[in-house]
Amino acid sequence: MANLSRRTLLLGGAGILGTVTLLNKPHDQSGPRAPYFLSMQNALIEAGIATPTLVIDRKRLNHNINTLVGHLPKGMGYRIVTKSLPSLDLIQHIRARSGSDRLMTFNQPMLSILSTAMPQASQLLGKPLPIAAVKNYFKILPTEFSGSADRVQWLIDTPRRLQQYTDLAKALGRTFAINLELDVGLHRGGFEPGAELNSVLNAINSSSALRFAGYMGYEPHLPVLPSVLGWRDRAKADAWRRYRDALDQAALVFDAKAMAGITRNAAGSPTYRYYKDTSLANEVSAGSCLVKPTHFDTDLLEPHEPASFIATPVIKSLATTHIPGLEFADGVKRIWNSNSSKTVFIYGGHWLADPVDPPGLSYNATFGRSSNQEMLNGGPELEVAVDDFVFFRPQQSEAVFLQFGDIAIYDDGKITDYWPVFPASA
Ligand SMILES: Cc1ncc(COP(=O)(O)O)c(C=O)c1O
Repeated sequence: MANLSRRTLLLGGAGILGTVTLLNKPHDQSGPRAPYFLSMQNALIEAGIATPTLVIDRKRLNHNINTLVGHLPKGMGYRIVTKSLPSLDLIQHIRARSGSDRLMTFNQPMLSILSTAMPQASQLLGKPLPIAAVKNYFKILPTEFSGSADRVQWLIDTPRRLQQYTDLAKALGRTFAINLELDVGLHRGGFEPGAELNSVLNAINSSSALRFAGYMGYEPHLPVLPSVLGWRDRAKADAWRRYRDALDQAALVFDAKAMAGITRNAAGSPTYRYYKDTSLANEVSAGSCLVKPTHFDTDLLEPHEPASFIATPVIKSLATTHIPGLEFADGVKRIWNSNSSKTVFIYGGHWLADPVDPPGLSYNATFGRSSNQEMLNGGPELEVAVDDFVFFRPQQSEAVFLQFGDIAIYDDGKITDYWPVFPASA
């Protein structure tokens, strides 16, 4: 009971039922700044950075790449999830360090950019693209990069989409490599083992415009299931049984040589460590765990380190907190919650991110969020001056990384490089 921060009393009387919530008084969470962030702040100031900036710590990124590669069982391929690492330089760095030439791509603009920037890479679509997007891709693909389209695996989730892709492949005089999306329990679409999958496999086999490239079965629902009563283990066994059944079905349509060459893609950051051998999947895809936003703070990803931060200058640092129109209540609020004693207004804000340094900073729900100058509150120990930096951890990388222009690369106490990101339209 001591840990409960909230207790509810049920009051009854005179026909009136009401609830009263007693909140425990929060402790002051402010404290000295972490030397890690003070060094990063010095590097940013030295580099003349004075706008909200996405920073990647190269050492930590490298540690995360090594960790991922080190966990891969013998023979397991690694596919780089590009949407979670949306910068050509970042992807190039990971390709070089991990030795992987496989990408998972999620939209047409990124597919087009990667087809010319990394023409030798294999690209597996992570979601099925509308046929109009595929037509646009071929319309703008420069002739000299035509070969890179042969290394694309098109993800197909329905018989109708397969028919659309077949028609386009014929019209273009090309052979499309088809990867089938499996529903292994996520229920985000795709095929389940059964009659429909069988007819699609046969349609691929009988068309000279198509080639069976493999399966993709993504299962991020597993680690969020409760482990009590064996729920998670049962769901995992069920996902793998569905995948196995789909493979057995394909083996009845395609010969052993074709089956030996297919892509058996699975996983994402939260689940890549589930795969201890290549008996089911022969490659895992992951991206976010290399930069580790806060949504990836899970037990399985414990060996990965947070490697990406938003740094933004403090515009105003105030010794007290005042809420407009509610000044009469400010004193009581401060006494009740010492973490709301001091205020900073930062340059920008309203990102999908959590403040991490100085310690104890939080958003003010009453004042509200702001993209222009966001208010953050801290306790009496908070020490942060105007022109100092406040640091956040992004909650996710894919959209957040696109909001700050070039990524600043932090290495050994210095900002050493700037890596452009993909256009936000991608
Ligand atoms: C099909 C698929 N595979 C893998 C991933 C894993 O990406 P990440 O490792 O960044 O979570 C995703 C993420 O959305 C996905 O949609």
